[in-house]
Amino acid sequence: MSTRQHLASWKKLQQLAKDKQSQHMNTLFAQDNQRFEKFSIELPNLLLDYSKNLIDSETLDCLLNLAKETQVSQWREKMLSGAKINKTEERAVLHTALRRQSDEALIVDGENITDHIQKQLAKMEVFVNKVRQGHWLGYSGKRITDVVNIGVGGSNLGPQMVTEALKHYSDGSVNVHYVSNVDGAQIVEVLRPLDPEKVLFIVSSKTFTTTETMTNARTSMKWLTSSSFDEKSIAKHFVAVTANKENAMKLGIEEQNIFDMWDWVGGRFSLWSAIGLAIALDLGFDKFTALLKGANEMDQHFIQAPLSKNMPVIMALISVWNTTFLGSQSQAILPYDQTLHMLTAYLQQAEMESNGKSVSWDGDEVSYATVPSIWGELGINGQHAFYQYLHQSNNVVPADFIGSVESVTPVKGHHETLMANFFAQTQALMVGVDENQVRADLQAKGRSDDYIEKVAPHKVHKGNRPTNTILLKRIDPETLGSLIAAYEHKIFVQGIILQICSFDQWGVELGKGLAAEIQKELETKTLCQQHDCSTENLIKFYQQSK
Ligand code: F6P
Repeated sequence: MSTRQHLASWKKLQQLAKDKQSQHMNTLFAQDNQRFEKFSIELPNLLLDYSKNLIDSETLDCLLNLAKETQVSQWREKMLSGAKINKTEERAVLHTALRRQSDEALIVDGENITDHIQKQLAKMEVFVNKVRQGHWLGYSGKRITDVVNIGVGGSNLGPQMVTEALKHYSDGSVNVHYVSNVDGAQIVEVLRPLDPEKVLFIVSSKTFTTTETMTNARTSMKWLTSSSFDEKSIAKHFVAVTANKENAMKLGIEEQNIFDMWDWVGGRFSLWSAIGLAIALDLGFDKFTALLKGANEMDQHFIQAPLSKNMPVIMALISVWNTTFLGSQSQAILPYDQTLHMLTAYLQQAEMESNGKSVSWDGDEVSYATVPSIWGELGINGQHAFYQYLHQSNNVVPADFIGSVESVTPVKGHHETLMANFFAQTQALMVGVDENQVRADLQAKGRSDDYIEKVAPHKVHKGNRPTNTILLKRIDPETLGSLIAAYEHKIFVQGIILQICSFDQWGVELGKGLAAEIQKELETKTLCQQHDCSTENLIKFYQQSK
């Protein structure tokens, strides 16, 4: 059994949760007009307001005690110094090293990884400049105009999310595309308008064993050679980013075209490594380093700020409070900045692949809820789709609202409309509207008593729905770096508090293994292993229908 439930703070929080469940945030706000000052954190580029949660000073103190009792600060030191805190894979967790702004040595397994990182950054810079300035030429001597990143999961979501978010900063030197799905429809669609003579492929895969990525890589090699009629053209059109150089070379990628990844970087935390090559090609190396700098600023805050003023720590504590103690089962991520349209998908992997687990790091079943399922969509689109559920369903879904003070693409009148909705929604979710008010409003509009009787219950909004508001100054590489790093550290802190190994992902292995076996059956039109009768008949139906 996990030892967390025995902690004094844990027991106290269970008690507080019972009391709080009968309270309304409206009362908490009426009792304390300093809630915003007390429950918000302002950093140079972003502000977190977490006052619209069912907490008061006592709850926060108790949550902070939980962070102390679970030794969050000590674990943070362990992570940053390269201790092997990824226990089940016996690996260090050092994505923070990728964005350190110092030359200081950092030793992992007897090697100074600062040297490795700097070498790769230098290699990336030379390569990026060469491609962007038109000095890297394709097999027929033409400059590269398009880059296709082939990768999935962490080798796709981070780079693509950032590329989308920072589109505004791209000078169009090259066009970047992403292929992640093994459904041929995607690669066909991406490659259709492209000229093989001018395309550069990045095969991004930490393991270089991921079936989907390998399949797409082989298809794109065929696509290239069916135009060049020369295997040697691969050297001019394919680079790889991987921790498995051997497999990359087996696939036919030249050694000098391979960028290193390391086992101390988790896939979902890897956009800061050469996995972010597509970002650097799109934006230029200076903007890629600005992204790293912004992430490092958040790292410094995470390292230096006291727990009570530490943004990622507070984000984690609020999530644990809402999920483990108050019982929410899901959490919505609702960006109000169009540029962040892939943030929810990115955070789904980051949080759910990290902490969507039910055994403690000692291998014992945990008896408490760990992390919520993460879902969401751009806020405005969500308002016209699923916000009904957020406001009036009988499930409470805590939500992160993320918006920007300035738009990177201002269009007269648009931003104020957008942000008015942003502020109105968190207010409505918290304040709600009771039946007396609904009746009074309808009466004021001159509605009949019958109509009021019929409609009033449907118009009641109970409110009391928790939200965090994250307000960014403006989306730019540094701010985005800080935002992503804040969520990364939140996930780490959540894992520590919940006693979960956040850096493995065994839950994806079972399905992968079965798929490999079933693929053989589909290819040979046979059934060579035992399946349950549902799976067996589905496979048979598929085979017979083809
Ligand atoms: O299947 C899940 C996963 O292992 C993720 O953790 C990872 O980001 C993704 O697959 C891609 O892995 P790779 O970079 O090794 O191809």
